[in-house]
Formats: sequence, structure tokens, C-alpha cells
Amino acid sequence: MKIKIAPSILASDFSRVGEAVKRLEACGADYVHCDVMDGNFVPPITFGAQMVKAIRPHTKLPLDCHLMVLHPETHIEDFAKAGADIITVHVEACDPAALFPKIAALGVKKGAVVNPETPVERAFPAVEAGADMILVMSVHPGWGGQAFLPETLEKLHILREFCVKCGKPDLDIEVDGGITEANVKDVVAAGANVIVAGSTVFRAPDMAATIKRLRG
Ligand code: DX5
Ligand code: ZN
Repeated sequence: MKIKIAPSILASDFSRVGEAVKRLEACGADYVHCDVMDGNFVPPITFGAQMVKAIRPHTKLPLDCHLMVLHPETHIEDFAKAGADIITVHVEACDPAALFPKIAALGVKKGAVVNPETPVERAFPAVEAGADMILVMSVHPGWGGQAFLPETLEKLHILREFCVKCGKPDLDIEVDGGITEANVKDVVAAGANVIVAGSTVFRAPDMAATIKRLRG
């Protein structure tokens, strides 16, 4: 399977996000991961659809919008209009499968997210409902720079097996949080193929080389 690298702009300099996404594209990233936090679903507030709209003209890369918000249904249209290419919503905040028709009707790819404490089986209905991607959190959502939770590996494995069983062996499985050059092999071996990396990419002395090595 093709491994895709989705650096998170959460780790970028917020005064220069336009430049950051240009640099990500030049350095070979596959997606731009946008961590949207509302101060309710998670304690911090990051940014909303206005940021997505602001960075849209600066890159052709797909904008992968991870909505860590309590009422995703009220924001989907704004993100679609702002230029989101993928919208993922948390199973802890909504019933993703119920929102998929609305997301798809806006011409955007749709996905479901599970938190570390949520059994990965909670994402199964989203797979059956035609999700384009499932995101498995490997840290508690809310902050960049945390350590990878090793119990994620088993969840990735279970999810990939379920996808195979459902006849969707190539479904995109994204992993998010604490990914480094040291543990990326393990998450890929466990079944992930879309790799979010914030700190690892933005702290890298050579961003292009780091993205290439993450992709393996
Ligand atoms: C956490 C976010 C992650 C985070 C990843 O709530 O969803 O995308 O930015 O950052 P690192 O790679 O630094 O763990
Ligand atoms: Zn994220």
C-alpha cells in the first residue's frame, strides 16, 4: 500500500502557516493535516474553517481536516466551502455514518476517528457505511508533542483485519500522534498507511529527508 505522510500544521508557526504549507508541498508531503479544536471536545482551541480557507490558495495538497469538535454537523459545510478535501469526525462526538451522506454530498472525503480510550470496534459501522478513511488516535487529542501510546498497534491491526474481512483491504487507515522515525515502521506493519506527524516533521533539520524517511 502507498504510505502517505500528513504533517500537522499544529506544529507550525501560526504566524506563517501559508509559508508552512508551501514548504510541506515542496518537501514531498502527501496531505496537510489540519487539527481543528473547539475548546469543548478537547480543552484547547486551535483554528477553524477560516484558517483552512486562508491556506487553501497556498497548496494543491489535499487538506485533511481532523475535527476535534463537539458538534461536527454544524461545521461540515463551512469546512467544505473553505476547501477541505477530507473531513474526519470523532465517534465520541457524533455518529459519523449518519454524517457521511452530508459530507459526500459536498464533494469531500469522509472519515471517522477513535480516541485512545475508545474501542476500535466503534469505527466498524463507519467502515461499513463507506468511510474513505479511519483515523486511530495514538495520543489523547488536544496537544502535539505527546508520546505514542503503544496499545494503538493492536487497534490498527484489528481494524486492518476488519477492512480485509469487509472486502476493503486498501481502505486508508490514518494514525495520529507521537509518530517518529523510530516507531513509524511499527504502525505501518500494524496496518496504518496515512501517517500524521507534527513535531517530527516541523522540528526536522531537513524536512524533505524526514518526510522521505517516514514514508520508508
Ligand atoms: C492531537 C492532534 C495531532 C497532533 C500530532 O490532538 O490530532 O494531529 O498534532 O502531533 P505530534 O505529531 O507532534 O504528536
Ligand atoms: Zn490530528
